[in-house]
Amino acid sequence: MALHTSTFMVRKSATEQISVSIVDMPCAAEGLSLTTWSSAGILSNLLHKLEVGKIKAVQSDDVKDDFAILELGAGTGLSGLSAAALWGQRALLTDLPTIVPGIQANVDLNAHVLREHGASAVSGTLDWTKPDMVSIPKSDNQRARTFTVDEVNGFPIILAADTMYTEEHPVLLSQTILRCLRRSPSARAIVVYAMRVAYIDHMREFWELMEAGGLVAEQEGREEIDLREWDDEKLHEWSVWKWKDL
Ligand SMILES: C[S@@+](CC[C@H](N)C(=O)[O-])C[C@H]1O[C@@H](n2cnc3c(N)ncnc32)[C@H](O)[C@@H]1O
Repeated sequence: MALHTSTFMVRKSATEQISVSIVDMPCAAEGLSLTTWSSAGILSNLLHKLEVGKIKAVQSDDVKDDFAILELGAGTGLSGLSAAALWGQRALLTDLPTIVPGIQANVDLNAHVLREHGASAVSGTLDWTKPDMVSIPKSDNQRARTFTVDEVNGFPIILAADTMYTEEHPVLLSQTILRCLRRSPSARAIVVYAMRVAYIDHMREFWELMEAGGLVAEQEGREEIDLREWDDEKLHEWSVWKWKDL
């Protein structure tokens, strides 16, 4: 079976772009086949506009387990690969176990792009029902390992694109972000979703849970997709979260 590969141009600055290639491997989880969703396109192209100065201030010696960026529900991994390349950081791209080979294929496909930008990426399992357990399978240049995320070794940057589409997701996603986001003033979680009418209540519940857990949206906005390029709800909402008390 021929696999479909797409090229995404991701904005690095007003004048520069990075090219990220994505292959849709034949993976599925919970009835959903692997594909790249419009939220990942929005998130990737939003990164250059954010207060990157603060995010860039994360130095490698501040990063336990070597990862500056954690992507949740990565799917094909476009957002995590884009963030790693844009910021020259090391990213951990996670999803349910059956999706991980599809992420790894895209990590491999973009190895040269990551290298050119002083970045790297690794795929692994992080199931939001067990939000503190990360498993990284063995690959050519990576030993297998499992670790627990705790108060001390959280991630400085978390990305989540199109990860709220069942009634369980507001609780699961917020509990995972609250567990995995580093307790640091510069830590940020970036969340994007399509504003599908059926999920509006889930989105509001998610905001309430994030705020109840001690986070506050530092930046938020809405973007429209180009319907010639994507087949989804036109309007998307994005938000950048930080710890309120730090
Ligand atoms: C709609 S897709 C979005 C994929 C990608 N972020 C994008 O925007 O292209 C949702 C992703 O969340 C993952 N997911 C769903 N439930 C999950 C869970 N409990 N733990 C981890 N990932 C989960 C799915 O496997 C899927 O890859």
